[in-house]
Amino acid sequence: MCRAAADIILNQIKLKPDSLICLTSGDTPAGIYKLLVEDAQQGKVDFSACYFVGLDEWVGMDKNDTGSCTNFLYETFFTPARIDPSRMMIFDAKAANLDASCAAMDNFIKEKGPLAIMLVGIGMNGHIGLNEPGADFNSYAHHSALAPVTIEVGQKYFTHQTQLTEGITLGLKHLQEAKIPMLLASGIKKANIIKLALQGEVTNQVPASIFQTLSSAYVMLDEDAASLLVH
Ligand code: PGA
Repeated sequence: MCRAAADIILNQIKLKPDSLICLTSGDTPAGIYKLLVEDAQQGKVDFSACYFVGLDEWVGMDKNDTGSCTNFLYETFFTPARIDPSRMMIFDAKAANLDASCAAMDNFIKEKGPLAIMLVGIGMNGHIGLNEPGADFNSYAHHSALAPVTIEVGQKYFTHQTQLTEGITLGLKHLQEAKIPMLLASGIKKANIIKLALQGEVTNQVPASIFQTLSSAYVMLDEDAASLLVH
């Protein structure tokens, strides 16, 4: 699954070296970034003309907070792939004015976009980025309260109990406007929500169900995550 996803990214960069790519954090994409870094080291891809945005962040955190989304992206991709900070936009989730952080992100995407590839994972409640159940399908960058399950599951990224309340995230309208929206899921624990998202009703109560409406999307699943889908 990681190799297939990495190859789609490689092809896109070959077609358009200055592509704008949205990277997601979490357990699922780590293998993809490892492969992309190896590919760059072996000269199979050159990221130097690309632009990158980070999908989301826990409000109140930055790249120095171990367990934050930005810290993860630096550790697994930006630093080993030697991405220049001028080529990326990360949410300022510590800003007093979070609306201004959202506007800065939306402007960067307008300027450097459209998004060529938007990688997203899926939460146990069907969230995409930190678009929680009830999120507006027509939203751009925004910040909102986290769902209780996200607060609970989110603890897995931290070494100690961490207070999580709000998230700042790209919106579902960004996903609809991306050339290639790409949903990633692995592991048996994602099988139920993948079935609901891909074969249940399209509703903003399950934000990932928006993928049923996206004609140019890729859904990248391992066998376990796909195991409850009806063929
Ligand atoms: P995970 O997170 O890859 O750590 O399962 C997915 C998500 O919540 O988007």
